[in-house]
Amino acid sequence: MIILACDHAGYELKEEIKAFFNRENIITIDVGTYSLERVDYPDFAKIGNAKVLENPNNLGIYICGTGIGMSIAANRNPKIRAALCTTIKFAQLARRHNDANVLVLPGRFMSKFKAISIVKEFLTTKFEGGRHLKRVKKLGS
Ligand code: RB5
Repeated sequence: MIILACDHAGYELKEEIKAFFNRENIITIDVGTYSLERVDYPDFAKIGNAKVLENPNNLGIYICGTGIGMSIAANRNPKIRAALCTTIKFAQLARRHNDANVLVLPGRFMSKFKAISIVKEFLTTKFEGGRHLKRVKKLGS
């Protein structure tokens, strides 16, 4: 399952990404926020993390203004490996090498077209394992 979380600064991009998933008939869980009203990103990272960790196959997509706050907040949970990705290649490597279970995007600094291409790459790339598994295990997650 794909879990979507954002603050007010990520709300519009989150809605665009959700619309993309709807067009593809892919079900998502949207844990909010649900409007442009100001909220605090740590609250939504925490709710998103809880949902992501319900199933090892779950992946999260979190969005705030820069993506930085959501990354810091999400990674407070030792079982979360959240990666702020601004290129397709970063999204690919976040999955292949880091087994990232959360993709973070900067809502105020990225077009919906770029965001969707990064989302597609993140969701279709598998963890390579091997030498990278040893490193991920050292993260304690
Ligand atoms: C909200 O104004 C903004 O600070 C937040 O979305 C995020 O960019 C923080 O890192």
